[in-house]
Amino acid sequence: MSKKIQPIILLTGFLLVSGCNNDTQSNEPNNQHMMNQQSNEGNHHMMDDSTMEHGHMSHDNVVSLKDSTGVNELNIPPLLTSDATDRTEYTIKAQTGKVDILDGMTTETLGYNGDLLGPVLQFKKGETIKINTINELDQETTFHWHGLEVPGEADGGPHTTLSPGEKEQIEFKVTQEAATLWFHPHPEGKTSEQVYKGLAGLIYIEDSNSAKLEIPKEYGKNDIPLVFQDRIFDEQGQLDYKAVMNEDGTIGDTLLVNGTVNPVLPVEKEQVRLRLLNGSNARNFTFKLNTGESFVQIATDGGFLNEPVTLNEVTLTPSERAEIIIDFSQLNSTNDLSLINEDGSILLPFDVSNQEADSLKTSEKLNDFAVTDEEENMPVTKNIELFGMMEHVEINGKKFDPERIDFTQEQGVTEVWEIYNKKDMMGGMIHPFHIHGTQFKIVSRDGVEPKEYEQGWKDTIAIHPGEKVKIAIQFKHKGVYMFHCHILEHEDNGMMGQIEVK
Ligand code: C2O
Ligand code: CU
Ligand code: CU
Repeated sequence: MSKKIQPIILLTGFLLVSGCNNDTQSNEPNNQHMMNQQSNEGNHHMMDDSTMEHGHMSHDNVVSLKDSTGVNELNIPPLLTSDATDRTEYTIKAQTGKVDILDGMTTETLGYNGDLLGPVLQFKKGETIKINTINELDQETTFHWHGLEVPGEADGGPHTTLSPGEKEQIEFKVTQEAATLWFHPHPEGKTSEQVYKGLAGLIYIEDSNSAKLEIPKEYGKNDIPLVFQDRIFDEQGQLDYKAVMNEDGTIGDTLLVNGTVNPVLPVEKEQVRLRLLNGSNARNFTFKLNTGESFVQIATDGGFLNEPVTLNEVTLTPSERAEIIIDFSQLNSTNDLSLINEDGSILLPFDVSNQEADSLKTSEKLNDFAVTDEEENMPVTKNIELFGMMEHVEINGKKFDPERIDFTQEQGVTEVWEIYNKKDMMGGMIHPFHIHGTQFKIVSRDGVEPKEYEQGWKDTIAIHPGEKVKIAIQFKHKGVYMFHCHILEHEDNGMMGQIEVK
């Protein structure tokens, strides 16, 4: 027993040294995180009483989400329409809003072209897109296109802030394949708060392949966007970020899906495609059906898998996406059916109508993604080491410095990076590692080929404590791009670096 208590003493020491503002320390030994470091069901170290209120109990025991009661029909964000018919030009405003999210209370929020979250932007491969970005907030922001392959100056990283009232037009050509991407702000040190309060939206890229595939495509009917975000509402129904913020990643007990609390999704007895985005600051989700029945995954962050992969669950860390298809005509029973997470919390109940829709046969061949022999055998040319927790997070021993370029790479040249999540004395946590301006391929995880459902384009990869992953990565455009942990508080705390593509 005394051996087991020791790490807690070390942790307490570490917290005191770290100057973390949690004043109560727990006497309760809880060292589960030491034992189950590969678990993806949670990612937090904290276990003292004050942070427990803020959602952190331990590395493997994050506060549970309240079950969705299913009283509110899921909000489906609008599709943004072009400013003109002869070209694709969009206008996106970051603004403040007020929404009655909870019963009888009005929450102050942020949103794009609306009160909360944003519309869905649709791009076609090959098109030139103009976007007029407008900052109507009373603070600086940026417009970052997560997963989009664009020149550095259009990427919306922390160097390209818009002051209150400022506008900027960006222009780029869409060169990548069909995928579900997203956009969100990225001002240095302020990303987590702005996303938390509601700034995020989805981007759909379509191409000739996605047009011809047999997959559900009717927006809002059988092709459903789903943005999952956990939040903490105070007694006044507000999202008081500063009061609940946790340096190691802010975790809430209340789930919003597309901004809807207690959502329900009406569907027909047909195949339904769910485009899942983990839009949380820090919480990981393992999505499953409450019946344990299977579904297929058809896409990763940046494109389709080669073929549908049958799974019983899919795990997404912050900013990762997956597209899945659930065949509601094939399930044993459609009563009390819901999407749940790893601890059985009801995330999204389905209201399945008796309406049998025309059944469709999902295409067996979706894409032609491959890691080449050359990529498999390429030497590692960049090493990245992720380390730390709370404010003490770093990459290769350093914190973000906007004046420092950490790496350079040549445009159009593939390199293999090795990313290592170095354990700390508490065992460590999963860091979702993201790179701007490109989609990459996973070559291996600890020397082993990735599972089928990760054999597709990625822009974020969950790296487990002690794990080393190799990725093959190429940038199509020039510019300065960020790479960082997508636990937004880690990003804001400096777990970020820069690469210049020349
Ligand atoms: Cu989702 Cu630096 O980005
Ligand atoms: Cu990004
Ligand atoms: Cu991290």
